[in-house]
Amino acid sequence: MTDRDLAALACHAMTKAYAPYSRFQVGAALLCADGTVYTGCNIENAAYGPTVCAERVAFFSAVRDGEREFVKIAVVGGLEGKIVSFTHPCGVCRQVMREFCRDDFEILAFDGKTVRSSTLIEMLPDSFSPSDLSPSQSTKEDDPCA
Ligand code: THU
Repeated sequence: MTDRDLAALACHAMTKAYAPYSRFQVGAALLCADGTVYTGCNIENAAYGPTVCAERVAFFSAVRDGEREFVKIAVVGGLEGKIVSFTHPCGVCRQVMREFCRDDFEILAFDGKTVRSSTLIEMLPDSFSPSDLSPSQSTKEDDPCA
């Protein structure tokens, strides 16, 4: 599975977008460590708030199927489905990636010509992650600021 192949799957997923309000269509293709690819499109809602991004649809579908190891995700988007520039994941989606992925998880953006690769640590530095909730992160019990 080349980066181009993954981007092509994201482009196909984008055609399924339900985006009657923003008219901005997004597609994502998530490569799991076992080679399986999960795709997603954005799904909007008249109440706006319930809208979900393409990346989260892909992640949550994969997690629903028991996937826990992820390698990279390709993301494409454009008004009316016309890809003219790079689309990068929103902050909420980056935080969802943080939940399941290591620092070197790759995020591929495709503008119709070029694939641009970034890592999760580049896109979300100094993040709050599951390790922050582990007991070993706690400081002295009697003086929490020590
Ligand atoms: N959107 C995504 O699906 N992924 C992103 O990373 C950015 C934004 C969607 C949400 C909404 O349906 C539309 O794009 C405009 O914000």
